[in-house]
Amino acid sequence: MRIAVLASGRGSNLRALLDARAAGRLDAAFVGTFSDRPGAGALEIARAAGIPAHALPPRAYADRAAHDEALFSAVADVQPDLIVCAGYMRLIGDAAVARFAGRMINIHPSLLPAYRGLHTHQRALDDRVPVHGASVHYVTAALDGGPVIAQAEVAVRADDDAERLAARVLAREHRLLPACVALIADGRLRQLDDAVALDGTRL
Ligand code: GRF
Repeated sequence: MRIAVLASGRGSNLRALLDARAAGRLDAAFVGTFSDRPGAGALEIARAAGIPAHALPPRAYADRAAHDEALFSAVADVQPDLIVCAGYMRLIGDAAVARFAGRMINIHPSLLPAYRGLHTHQRALDDRVPVHGASVHYVTAALDGGPVIAQAEVAVRADDDAERLAARVLAREHRLLPACVALIADGRLRQLDDAVALDGTRL
């Protein structure tokens, strides 16, 4: 399976995917890493691993749609079977979502459907929830709203702050994401063009 990774930040989830491949837990070829931020650590990690790394900063394009089109055309050029959003922090427009329906997944640091969007750890702490975590889900037009593939739970501690909680969730993300990608790569979780998730979402 050919995998393209989208990432805006430090790239620890990309590193976890590469570690899983090196350890024989993920049978896949990483054919490109794409970022909206030229300085993203994820691009460095990709280059060091010999994976083509592409930066497409939004300011180089007229508007969001034009950036999306350029980014996802570059992604399409590497002919991925699966696109993994591993800390890609921009909204993805409907056209790109439709183009890769059922072939694009995202990792999000909350137990969806709770806490879509940003600042998930602080929001969980503010609500005093006992359990927080991370989710891997299919990307649909609804922000962080696509069908969930799997989740990892993390118990919230009385002395947690957002940073401490984020660190424990991140450690779980690093196991969850490679496991989900391996499910798909091994054909144990298959998506068809006309698939409909249990909640009625068309994939
Ligand atoms: C992760 O917490 C991920 O869930 C979120 O952004 C963060 C990315 O971290 N969407 P990294 O760049 O993989 O280290």
